[in-house]
Amino acid sequence: MHVRRVELTDFRSYERVAVDLDPGVSVLVGQNGMGKTNLIEALGYVATLDSHRVATDAPLVRAGAASAVIRCAIVHEGRELLVELEIVPGRANRARLNRSPVRRPREVLGALRMVLFAPEDLELVRGDPSERRRYLDDLLVARQPRFAGVRADYDRVVKQRNALLRNAYLNRKVGGTRGQDLSTLAVWDHHLAHHGAELLAGRLELAAALAPHLTKAYDAVAPGRGAAAIAYASRLGEALQADRPALEAAILERLQERRVAEIERGMTLVGPHRDDLALSLGDLPVKGYASHGECWSFALALRLAAYDLLRSDGIEPVLVLDDVFAELDGSRRERLAGLVSDAAQLLVTCAVPEDVPASLRGARFDVVTGAVSRVS
Ligand SMILES: Nc1ncnc2c1ncn2[C@@H]1O[C@H](COP(=O)(O)OP(=O)(O)OP(=O)(O)O)[C@@H](O)[C@H]1O
Ligand SMILES: [Mg+2]
Repeated sequence: MHVRRVELTDFRSYERVAVDLDPGVSVLVGQNGMGKTNLIEALGYVATLDSHRVATDAPLVRAGAASAVIRCAIVHEGRELLVELEIVPGRANRARLNRSPVRRPREVLGALRMVLFAPEDLELVRGDPSERRRYLDDLLVARQPRFAGVRADYDRVVKQRNALLRNAYLNRKVGGTRGQDLSTLAVWDHHLAHHGAELLAGRLELAAALAPHLTKAYDAVAPGRGAAAIAYASRLGEALQADRPALEAAILERLQERRVAEIERGMTLVGPHRDDLALSLGDLPVKGYASHGECWSFALALRLAAYDLLRSDGIEPVLVLDDVFAELDGSRRERLAGLVSDAAQLLVTCAVPEDVPASLRGARFDVVTGAVSRVS
């Protein structure tokens, strides 16, 4: 698939911009702060309804404007889809698909499949488990858009169950009774186990499918530096199988075991929102052991593995490499170029065009405050 055109209104630093893109390689060149990442962040938003840089929508809207609009035409197997998103901070986004309003913005997920690697991805390796859960869940949705609904259902259950436990906790502090206000907890246990098992089964299947791609990708990025591996790490136990009824039973059982602790702490302590993706290099975990360069290669390998996996599913995602080549020496640049040069569409950003290997020659765009122009 490829993005044929993107138009932004009041998105980040852009008052109004329209960029026409071809399949194959496009290199966006501009000095620091000119708006290269802003442009691809908009595409990322179409793909995931989320920014890879910020957790809230407010910074996405141009300072002084009330809302931002992203309009993106995507070509896939000869058909064109037009996705339009209006971002209004503090309110639900509005979305249209081929000019018809959709009931929920998440109905546009799947229209654009994209893998984005950006400097922020170092957090995938160094950051909290929530970063890696998000990586898994975004990929899960990219492969099977119905998981957007599963994820939303599960998040809602955890939120409501947390609110119940929290209220009971606060009531108890002022001398209320515990039995009364937790009377609906059993119902929430079942919702949690039901949606949790579905999400967990999806993640387990995904992690298993992804693991060989990750090992291969790391070896391609940093050859001869030991085998990289990933494994889904759940507090429910080791070697879990993606068997929904069994997972549901396991969650319910663990909820029973942790009942007292949950009531004491006033929060949900069981479920896939507490899980992680364990990363290792050779016999050692990455976190706390790996060097800066190794962490960086691992983060890149996680994205390349996602890209490979989507391709092996028969989906040709758009690949975006934001500011990647400046970090690499000459031989690594060439190696990475070799891995990605046949992408259906590859968007590369850089401040210095010479950093991008000659084998990735394609269309070139100059990005200068608020304007993007094709120069070759
Ligand atoms: N909501 C906003 N309203 C107005 N300007 C914004 C907004 N958000 C970000 N900017 C501006 O956008 C610029 C950053 O753009 P961007 O991150 O795309 O730069 P870049 O070209 O990728 O630079 P670098 O090479 O340093 O990565 C900054 O100057 C910032 O002030
Ligand atoms: Mg940038």
